[in-house]
Amino acid sequence: VPLPTGLPDLARILRFGAGVIRSRTLPGGEMYHFRTYSSAGALYPVELYLACPELTDLSAGLYHFHPGELSLRRLRAGDVRANLAHAAADSALADARAVLLLSGIMWRSAWKYGARAYRHLFWDAGTMLANLLALAASEGLSRRLLTGFVDSELNHILGLDGDREAAIALLALGRAERAEQPSSLAPLELESVPLSRTEPVFEDARGLHAASVLASPEEVQSYRTAAPETLESGAEAGLEPLETVLRRRGSVREFSADPVPVDQLAATLALAAAPVPADVAPSNELYGIVNAVEGLESGVYRFEPPDVLELLRPGAFRLQAGYLVLEQYLGSLAAATFFLMTDLERVLETLGDRGYRATELEAGIRVGRIYLASYAQGLAATASTFYDDDVSSFLAPSLSPMLCAAVGFPA
Ligand SMILES: Cc1cc2nc3c(=O)[nH]c(=O)nc-3n(C[C@H](O)[C@H](O)[C@H](O)COP(=O)(O)O)c2cc1C
Repeated sequence: VPLPTGLPDLARILRFGAGVIRSRTLPGGEMYHFRTYSSAGALYPVELYLACPELTDLSAGLYHFHPGELSLRRLRAGDVRANLAHAAADSALADARAVLLLSGIMWRSAWKYGARAYRHLFWDAGTMLANLLALAASEGLSRRLLTGFVDSELNHILGLDGDREAAIALLALGRAERAEQPSSLAPLELESVPLSRTEPVFEDARGLHAASVLASPEEVQSYRTAAPETLESGAEAGLEPLETVLRRRGSVREFSADPVPVDQLAATLALAAAPVPADVAPSNELYGIVNAVEGLESGVYRFEPPDVLELLRPGAFRLQAGYLVLEQYLGSLAAATFFLMTDLERVLETLGDRGYRATELEAGIRVGRIYLASYAQGLAATASTFYDDDVSSFLAPSLSPMLCAAVGFPA
């Protein structure tokens, strides 16, 4: 079915949060499609589903979002929100107006990135979630992000095998009438068109995912460090209509040498560091290299929200910035290159192995917000991969880098 037109909020959120927005013909004649969020290598391993009660022009059900057609395909008829509430041990899901569900398909990134593709699922889900959260905020809808759920139960609802494709997060939006008791759901055995002749299996990545599965509602509850926080205000709303920002957004391929005003960098980092309405406490901090920011000495900085840029080490570090982002010159050219850094040991101690998913996802969301804030202010940005150990030793030896974004004016 087409996106529900009587509900501009959901149609807008899906289309501008996760749809295809640009297509380009490659030299060989192949058509390539780009989506509204950034994805490493443009490989888009994340799928998006929607569960809703009966709405004005959409019947109650579970749907898959088709990002190219901008349409929904119904996978299950009937309200599944009470089933979702059970799977995520969170009764608030039963009265959400809509629940968006994100899943990851490993091989789409793993053929290129190997086992490291495991973290790409959460990075890319994060950049998509940054869009979805900002759009929902601008619609005045409450947001509640859940990273803890009984994996097998949620995968069953979505019809996923949990191995080739697995659920990775739920986002509840707004409020509606509360769903009744969970219904018994038959296995979904739907066929989908294969996208590739073969699908390689990456045992290491598979093992990583299996290691952080939660097996019961009790395990979900003990994983949660706090009652899931619901964000009510429009804190993530942008400076101009988000459609305009999202149409302009892309990953910059060339920076100009012009310095960035310090208040623009600070506004970008403040949005990145703003609260995420998640079921676990935040774990990422921002450290970075400043090369060309008006009113700031060059050097290594730590950002303390809401607006303090603390100089840790003065110096000209353009070469190091380029080296740290896997020897890509965009890092050297950028006005500033910031890294989301986490005390991974502490995260794993507090949250168990599941904490790994949460902290990578949080970094993805914060980088997605760096994109939004940059493009809203006439700046440009690109996410980047990096040399893990070298970033740690250069910026903060006790922390591990989760993700990186370079910011500056576009050439
Ligand atoms: C997690 C992540 C890592 C990325 N790493 C790099 C990188 O190392 N170098 C780079 O030039 N672009 C990188 N990108 C940008 C992607 O290549 C880009 O998002 C993708 O090609 C889609 O294009 P678009 O962002 O312009 O829509 C990364 C993006 C993400 C989300």
